[in-house]
Amino acid sequence: MLNSPFIYLTLFMHHFHSLKTTKVSKETNDCVHIAFAIPPELRHEFTFKQGQYINVRFLMGEEDLRRSYSIVNAPSEGNGDLEILVKHLDNGKVSTYLNQVLKLGDFVEVMAPSGHFYTHYHPSNEKNYIGLAAGSGISPVLSNLKEALYQEPKSNGYLIFSNKSFAEIIFKKEIDALVAQFEGKLKVFYLVSREKHFEDELFEGRISAEKLDLIFEKFPEIPVQDSTYFICGPSEMIKGIGDYLKKDKKVPSLQVMYEYYSAPDDGESSEMSDEFKAIPNLESMVTLIIDDDEYSFHLNSKKRSILDQALNDKLPVPFACKGGVCCTCKAQVMEGEVFMEKNFALTEDEVARGFVLTCQCHPTTNVVMLNYDV
Ligand code: FES
Repeated sequence: MLNSPFIYLTLFMHHFHSLKTTKVSKETNDCVHIAFAIPPELRHEFTFKQGQYINVRFLMGEEDLRRSYSIVNAPSEGNGDLEILVKHLDNGKVSTYLNQVLKLGDFVEVMAPSGHFYTHYHPSNEKNYIGLAAGSGISPVLSNLKEALYQEPKSNGYLIFSNKSFAEIIFKKEIDALVAQFEGKLKVFYLVSREKHFEDELFEGRISAEKLDLIFEKFPEIPVQDSTYFICGPSEMIKGIGDYLKKDKKVPSLQVMYEYYSAPDDGESSEMSDEFKAIPNLESMVTLIIDDDEYSFHLNSKKRSILDQALNDKLPVPFACKGGVCCTCKAQVMEGEVFMEKNFALTEDEVARGFVLTCQCHPTTNVVMLNYDV
């Protein structure tokens, strides 16, 4: 008997629901903007924070394909629909389907929002927020900036946004409308990497430490140290900018938040790291707690990941990217130890509390127990 809404939510948070599309429109040549209606009975489960993401699932032939997409809209705007942006990737089965086949009124399997790429806003705050986004990395950054503007009338937002060309600037109309709506509160710098910028060549190229340095020098009114940053783009951009802000500009780490692009749309790299090669070769009994049920299997530490073995055994484990990016496969170690190959999603605090990404984990003790329900 489920008598607590919290327990109910915890048990079913990994389940997919069929949501109807209320918008399917081309945003740029290779991006589609999709909105889903949330029926009243799912409103609670699909309550989201700015900057979170959803997982979608498609069963294509024998394949169970899952992808993560950041939410574009802010909780304080709109009609409660949930909006995402999907960039078409070459050979990306799901992104191709969503860009080329999906129609208004179609249903898509969607999991409840998750992720922690956000900060908490309060109307009395007088803060500064700087968004740094490349291409489709705009989604969670824009969601955060919009929520800040709606929630905090005394705060300011800045957006430095790079795209290949002016024609490919995602959500340009909406961003320009926000600049007008929140007059003096939002300043936007558009960068283009593959064409001339008609105003200033400073805005030609990609976002990098060097580029930011020049922009900050030219616009000293940008409060570089006294801002919270939302960064989303490719890993090399995030790393370069993160180091620059924290080391060179002395921005406190807690003020620098970042979200990686989703893992590659299809497939993944299987390069083995030296650390993985060094783990002990042993047989382990792995137990998983999923939706209050326990499942056990044997796994050699050098073979596939815990998630891959669970999927092979057809267990109902949650997953999406399988690349250590989305966090959907998160579980907490209750017993034993595991080696985690990659982690682009968990915070240091979560790792310290024993959370792991099971798509990246191999057992390193003879007995391991992981709990997905926490
Ligand atoms: S499935 Fe995305 S991090 Fe593991």
